[in-house]
Amino acid sequence: MKHASFLTGWIMMFFSIAFANPAKPSFGDLMPQPKQIKAVKGRFVVNEQFQIAVRGKGSAKLFKAASRALNRLRGRTGFFMRQAFVTKKVNPDSAAMVISIQRPGNMALGEDESYELNVSPQKILLNAPTDLGALHGLETFLQLLSADEQGYFLPAVQIEDAPRFPWRGLLIDACRHFMPVKMIERNLDGMAAVKMNVLHWHLSEDQAFRVECKTFPKLQQLASDGFYYTQAQIKEIIAYAADRGIRVMPEFDLPGHATSWLTAYPEFASAPGPYSLQREWGIFDPVFDPTNEGTYTFLEAFFKEMSALFTDEYMHIGGDENNGKQWDANVHIQKFMKENHIKNNRQLQSYFNKRLLKILTKYHKKMVGWDEIFQPDLPKNIIIQSWRGRESMVKAAQQGYRTILSHGYYIDLLLPASTHYLNDPAPADLPLNAQQRKLILGGEATMWSEMVSPENVDSRIWPRTAAIAERFWSPAYVRDVDDMYRRLKTVSFHLEELGLTHIKNYAVMLRRLTDNAPIEPLKTLVDIIEPVKLYKRHQLRKHYTYSPLTRVVDAARPDAETARNFRNTVEKFIQKADHSTSIINRLVAWRENDKKLQPLIHGSPVLKEIAPLSKNISNCALIGLEAMNYILNKNKAPHEWRQKAKRILEQAQKPVAQTELMILPALKALAKRAAEDDR
Ligand code: ACM
Repeated sequence: MKHASFLTGWIMMFFSIAFANPAKPSFGDLMPQPKQIKAVKGRFVVNEQFQIAVRGKGSAKLFKAASRALNRLRGRTGFFMRQAFVTKKVNPDSAAMVISIQRPGNMALGEDESYELNVSPQKILLNAPTDLGALHGLETFLQLLSADEQGYFLPAVQIEDAPRFPWRGLLIDACRHFMPVKMIERNLDGMAAVKMNVLHWHLSEDQAFRVECKTFPKLQQLASDGFYYTQAQIKEIIAYAADRGIRVMPEFDLPGHATSWLTAYPEFASAPGPYSLQREWGIFDPVFDPTNEGTYTFLEAFFKEMSALFTDEYMHIGGDENNGKQWDANVHIQKFMKENHIKNNRQLQSYFNKRLLKILTKYHKKMVGWDEIFQPDLPKNIIIQSWRGRESMVKAAQQGYRTILSHGYYIDLLLPASTHYLNDPAPADLPLNAQQRKLILGGEATMWSEMVSPENVDSRIWPRTAAIAERFWSPAYVRDVDDMYRRLKTVSFHLEELGLTHIKNYAVMLRRLTDNAPIEPLKTLVDIIEPVKLYKRHQLRKHYTYSPLTRVVDAARPDAETARNFRNTVEKFIQKADHSTSIINRLVAWRENDKKLQPLIHGSPVLKEIAPLSKNISNCALIGLEAMNYILNKNKAPHEWRQKAKRILEQAQKPVAQTELMILPALKALAKRAAEDDR
């Protein structure tokens, strides 16, 4: 909740420039930013009399969502409201907030999700063609809630909103590490809060098969380590998602990434078994035999059952990273290829996909696959999910295929939110005509789970995914990074009320690491480090499915806020604004931290690996202080100092305990400044 004077400032600023400058990116702390927003004079005061009513028939989904919104409002304000639930009995003429919809929305791609929200001092009106739009409007309503010394209020506004893209997804990999139902559900709540509408649920992998299958029970019995979703749980999650306007698309990865399937049913593999679940990370050989008719009999019965269980019209069949080794080595498969004029493994996979497509079509499903499945002889109603580069997205669209983009949204790689935020699925300069552009349906953030546990996974998803959600929802011109980070902080805080653990589990993990000693010195260190990025962690240490994810690197979070703020402050200082006191205070704290951390390290052996990191921070902070001294005293740092600074800062660049020290760019900038002539 923002302070009134701050908000009023935004409103005034918006008034003066919003319409003259359509690129003005921001209103208050809304995320995603709406398509159109107009500030109006005044405010709507929220008090204990506040009531929500639905005019007309509404829908079960709408009544439930409105009741949840009311409850969140109650939770934030602490008001003992008269209204318990939003029901048909509440009279719209006397209620402060009135919602009307024209019809229940279909849980289908492309459904109308627009809404209008008008807040005046007297009344709040939320109108939408479908309940899906109204759900989005309820989230905007909650994001507008503000407070000052007079109490709780919403600024008066007129909002017209609709998404830029119809497909706004989050992939959750429940295979590499199993994700319990409550993890999925709290993340569905998070998705709804930022107007995302597709959960892409990755359910089969080399490491595990996670769905109860009644036709082929060995899948869960032999290939899940006992961690799988029962069909009752799956139905519960689909219903939970639908209640929040979110479609659930399952992914069963085929023909590669198939060790778990083949552990249960080795007779469909391209090489003799037996197989066992993979405990390591990487790309593995086991692959279905596409020349065995039994494979298709099996898959037909499997998808018959799954098509009834998973109600969305889209079914993801994976298709990625088949290395083809087993196909190359199998005499029978080679003979089949020759006889059927199949020239290479790509064509063989395409043959497999076409057989699979027939099965999916029979059970009224449309096929989605990773970009490897893209072969121009597949029918145009499939969707290509582009992950290896956006080129495949462009190529697919040029040839008339619908696509979704995940390249650039791999949140498991631990890059800053800004990188994902500036990655537009459809920038103006794509070589596509207007018709082809429409084939870009949107995108998906991907939470691959090799290096996450249910304990820290939320901190890898949130808050960065909120920035991606804005990219998928808001107009393309909304791309001011500083403003995004400012709003992201508020959104992140509000996501906690939904049970997400991205903030609170930080302290939980640090406390375990210190063995319940006061965490402050450890926090000071972990606040300015990040896990190494991309796939570097795999190179630094071999991990297995059962390796601990409770070390310092697992507690450290992407996009370390303290380091980012320090970087920004140093940039401002170098541009001659005076922030020297805050910089010096920080540096002194970092220099002193090693002394405070050493006793903790001695008392908790799991922390031993960060002892050199702690020393590095102290040494680097001292360089920073010396640089500040030169700069503030207008002395040019001598050559020898510059050499020493370079050596110390470069040495600190090497990952320690699979983490990176994030204050180094700022310290390098200070050291460089200290050695410049022209100050
Ligand atoms: C993928 O990341 N292999 C789709």
